Amino acid sequence: MLGIFDSGFGGLSVLKHINNRLPNISTVFLGDNAQAPYGTRSTEEIFQLTLKGVRFLFQQGCPLVILACNTASSEALRRIQQEILPVEFPDRRVLGVIRPASEHLHERYDGDVGILATPATIRSESYAKEVAKLAPNTSVSQVACPGLVELIEQGKCDSEQTNELVSRYTNTLIEMNPQIEYVLLACTHYPLIYDVFRKQLPDHIKLISQGNIVADKLKEYLDRNKSILAKLNQDGQRLFYTTTSIDLSDQASMFYQSPIQFTHTSLQKYDIL
Ligand code: DGL
Repeated sequence: MLGIFDSGFGGLSVLKHINNRLPNISTVFLGDNAQAPYGTRSTEEIFQLTLKGVRFLFQQGCPLVILACNTASSEALRRIQQEILPVEFPDRRVLGVIRPASEHLHERYDGDVGILATPATIRSESYAKEVAKLAPNTSVSQVACPGLVELIEQGKCDSEQTNELVSRYTNTLIEMNPQIEYVLLACTHYPLIYDVFRKQLPDHIKLISQGNIVADKLKEYLDRNKSILAKLNQDGQRLFYTTTSIDLSDQASMFYQSPIQFTHTSLQKYDIL
């Protein structure tokens, strides 16, 4: 099965597109809702939590795991790829969302870019670095958006507080660079409040979500890597796990836009592996 990991609900906004784009590929989703948000944690905490999630998904038999989380991709992906996989799981792969989104920006758009993301993603400078490698002349302005993931996890998607925070962050971004033409929602939770962002940004600014980008790039990756594709079950199974014991299935179904049933799992045993 293909593993999809996020700190919480956000990854569902990517999973939906992957399931639509590659309907036969069986997927297992893990949301670490009990530990969300990751975006205000230290680099080491994000690495340890992400590693536990990846180990859980490997244990479910996933040959490939997608970190459908910018924060985990920024703060844990490289270390997992360089330090953990070669030693413990040489046949498995873990991919993130920063590289596909940066490639997409480079391939499709020409103009100043704005990035809205969690404090940890902004602190890592992952987008600034990745875009600089692909398009050194592109101006990247970034604003950290603390508090939004918490509100989304609590289901307060169109609350006054959510609108106020989004307005504050988008205004800061435009003040930083009034020439911005494209804004990337560089946190997989943010597409769940896409309409709130759209309302707050001037009409001429194109607002970009990552779900379809990641799904398209994953398809290209699997077309190029047939040996990985051959290891993925193609019977269209869908499994959903969460680390919280609170039943979040209704909320998750709303975000996934189809009914889903979460199974609770603890990641405790992966602490000591
Ligand atoms: N959805 C995640 C991201 O893309 C992380 C949000 C969080 O846990 O802070 O960054």
